[in-house]
Formats: sequence, structure tokens, C-alpha cells
Amino acid sequence: MKRRDFLKGIGLIAAGAAVAPKALAGTFSPEQKALTEPFNPELKEPGSLNSLDLGIRGLRPNVNKQITMVIVGAGNRGSVYARYAELYPDAVKVVGVSDINPARKANVAEKHSIPQNCQFGDYRELLAAGKIADAMVIALPDDLHYDSCMKALELGYDVLLEKPCAQTEKQCRDILAQTHRYKKIVAVCHVLRYAPYFIALREIVRRGYIGNPVSFQHLEPIQYAHMAHSYVRGNWRNSKETTPIILAKSCHDLDFLRWIIDKPCKSIAADGSLHLFKSDNAPEGAPKRCTDGCPVEAKCPYSAIDIYANKRRHLHVFDLPKGYTREDIIEKLRTSAYGRCVYYCDNDQPDHYVAAMLFEDDVTASFSMEAFTPKGRRRTRIMGTTGMIDGDGAQFTVWDFRSGEKQVWNRKVSEIPEYKGAGHGGGDHALMRDFVEAVAWQDPNRLTSTIDVSIESHIMGFAAEKSRKYQRKVKIKI
Ligand SMILES: NC(=O)c1ccc[n+]([C@@H]2O[C@H](COP(=O)([O-])OP(=O)(O)OC[C@H]3O[C@@H](n4cnc5c(N)ncnc54)[C@H](O)[C@@H]3O)[C@@H](O)[C@H]2O)c1
Repeated sequence: MKRRDFLKGIGLIAAGAAVAPKALAGTFSPEQKALTEPFNPELKEPGSLNSLDLGIRGLRPNVNKQITMVIVGAGNRGSVYARYAELYPDAVKVVGVSDINPARKANVAEKHSIPQNCQFGDYRELLAAGKIADAMVIALPDDLHYDSCMKALELGYDVLLEKPCAQTEKQCRDILAQTHRYKKIVAVCHVLRYAPYFIALREIVRRGYIGNPVSFQHLEPIQYAHMAHSYVRGNWRNSKETTPIILAKSCHDLDFLRWIIDKPCKSIAADGSLHLFKSDNAPEGAPKRCTDGCPVEAKCPYSAIDIYANKRRHLHVFDLPKGYTREDIIEKLRTSAYGRCVYYCDNDQPDHYVAAMLFEDDVTASFSMEAFTPKGRRRTRIMGTTGMIDGDGAQFTVWDFRSGEKQVWNRKVSEIPEYKGAGHGGGDHALMRDFVEAVAWQDPNRLTSTIDVSIESHIMGFAAEKSRKYQRKVKIKI
């Protein structure tokens, strides 16, 4: 007799969690019931993992009308979301823009034919004009999210809010309360929840391929040059002006863990520090800028000349003119924050960070954020009662202990034509698709990252930082 039939026979499945032994029932939601039983190969759908319908959709939104939106902060992220409207103009139109950088504002305004009276500098000018669209995309620096989002909700906008939502736990809770007060939709840009790879990984776990998941290991390799660019020289270098790196960089990862485990986090213990990028570690004779004749420039992996002028990484921050030359880049390094020696910056963000988490039902997770890594994707290993999954951010392998069978999910996102070139493994534009649908149908359930659910991983982030700072395990209360 199959285990499921046996359990049905003795009434455990029908009777539910109240009478089932803890090891079998736990507190699983109905759709998670499969996780309470060892994986049965007979239940597996035929065909390879790649052929399964795991809920990955194309990027065209299914809407009943065109929605309008304003882009607030037309930098890197704002442009990504505005681009979606170029691809699906019948579903979404950008009707306004705000940015204090005239070139960025003009760029979005030109692409979307935005009239002069709907082009604004500071976001407060836009808010003073009242409500001019259905939705607002807030892609401002971290310290401006709170004020802009609170006022946008008051004006009646639905909001796509970049992460981190705000700089403190209280501010995040205020945004949640304001969302409810004005009955609006706030989607937090936790783009991993929308990326096909992560959707597939989560779905395989939910379908019970490794039985009951017990423990998770997750690695976020920041990459040495990205660390130097964003968290040593650049916009997120100072935790007080922005947010601690566990939120600024890793709230995606805490959110991914909360989402895939699908149970509340009970406690967190974190550690980590700024090991390398401080003046004590400056090489002898190093000047304040890489362009000032540094004796170790030719060997230093963090050389601004190498990262920007040789390897041409992260150049969007310079707003270079069309047809720019190497000398144009070098000039930016002589004058901007990005030319500074990494040992002489005003930075305080840790370059390595670990966190151990306990979730409901004794599920554990460990997380590592590492600056000292080459370019690479996030890695996840999931240990279950009947199997294990090992994923590298593009593909994952599923082991079944009893059969010894090993299967691989390695569907290429680029095989879905609309996903080609979409950032974060397709997550950026899939998030936009769901946001546009949610606004058009006024249905927040079309999103998986509303503020209501995203707030939990933010609270985990604030708790992690408290734990790291005060060197103690922190209990989490949602
Ligand atoms: N979801 C993700 O994966 C992801 C990735 C990177 C960044 N982010 C977040 O997105 C947000 C924006 O990051 P970014 O990389 O696009 O930064 P960015 O610097 O490229 O863009 C921010 C823009 O805001 C503009 N701005 C600043 N002050 C303003 C004001 N008072 N009024 C109007 N405009 C103003 C700037 O001129 C700039 O163009 C940040 O909160 C960041 O943490 C999210």
C-alpha cells in the first residue's frame, strides 16, 4: 500500500495537523502537504525537470486596459522599469518622470515622449503636482524611499518600491500601515521571486522532490569589483546614509530564504565585519586616488583604472557622452568618488557577513555574503528528508536518496524569447509584468512581493544587523 493511501486510510490526511504526529504534519499549509511525506518517485511527473510546467510565464502582461506610471529616479533601476513600457506600450505608458540629474530625466522623457509639464527635478516637485498617473515607480536612493512612498500612497498612487523599502524597521511598518490605510498596492522589487530559475527551484521543493526540506545553505557572491564599486567607493558605502549591507545588498537573499522556506523566521544570529577596505591596510606609498601614480596600481585588483577604464565595468554611473574615450573615463576617475583608493574611502559596510537562521518547524538556514569572490551567481543547497538540491543560480541538480537518481533543471531563460536580456535572470521584467497586471486589475494577489509579505525579510535584515552589532542571537517578532 502506498504511504499516502495508508495515511488516508487511517484518517491522518483528512483529519489534518491536529492529530497527526509532528514529524509528519508540522504546520504545513494545504498545498505543502506533499512535503510532509517522503517523496515517492511514482508521484513524479513523467519527463525531465525541464519539461515540467513550473509556472514560468512569458513577459507580456494580461491586462484589460493600459495603465499609466511615473518614473521617480531615472537612474539605473528606474530605466530598467521604464524600458518595460517600451516593450509593451499597449499595457503601460510612462507619462511622467522625476530626476535631479537633467541628462537622466531627459533620456526617459525623450524615449516616452513625456511633455515638459510632466518632467520634474526633485521628487517633491512631482508630488506637489498631485496625482498624474495610476502608478509610481520609486527608484530613488535608499534614504528617499520612505518620504516619497508615504506621500505617494496618500496621493492615491499604487507603488513599485525599490528595495530596501526604508531605512528602519519602524519606517517599513509605517509604509505597510499607510498601504492599508489608503488601500493601495505596494510591490517591493524583490526581483528574485520573479526570476524563472528561482521560481523553478521553489516549485521543485514545494512539489516534494526532496521530501521535507530541513536545512538551507545560501551564498551570495558579491564579486570583488562590485563590492569596490558600490559598497566601498559608491552610493551604498555608508550604512547610515543608506542601509546596512545586509539590507542594501542581501535583503533579496533573506527574502528568497523566507519565500522558499515558506515559514516564519524565529531567530537570527549574525556576524561579519569590514576586513579589508580601511586605511590601516593601504599599501605603502598608495596615494588617495588610483590616477595619482599609485606604486601598486598594476597589481591591485581594486584599481579604479582597471575596473572602469580597462574592464569597462559599471560605467553607467558616469553619464558618459556617446562616443566617449578612455581619456573621458580617466577624467571621471580624477574627479569623482569612483577614482578613490579603496583603502581611503568613507565606507563602513562589512565585506563578509554570515547569518544563521532558525525558522518554524526547526528548519535552519545559513547565509554568507562574500565580497571576495569572482563574478558569479548565487548558490543554494537544500537538504531534505529524502533528497538534496544543489543550485548555482542558472541550473540545479536534484538527488533522490532512495533511487539514487539525479535530475537536472537547466532550462535556459534565453530560450523564452521575451526574456532575452532581461536583468536579474528575467526577474526585473517579470516583476513589471505582475505589477502592471496588479494595477490594471486592482489585484495585489497577482504579485508575490507585496509589502505585506516583503516586510518580513526586511525585519529579518534589521534583526541580523542588531545581532551582528551587539553580538547576540535576536528573536524575531513580526
Ligand atoms: N532590485 C534590485 O535588484 C536593485 C538593484 C540595484 C539597486 N536597487 C535599489 O534601487 C534604488 C535605485 O538604485 P539605482 O542603482 O537605480 O541608483 P541610481 O543612482 O542609478 O538612480 C537613482 C536616481 O535617483 C535620482 N535622484 C536622487 N535624488 C533625487 C531626488 N531628490 N529627486 C529625484 N531624483 C533623485 C538620481 O539622480 C539617480 O538618477 C536604490 O534604492 C537601490 O538600493 C535595487
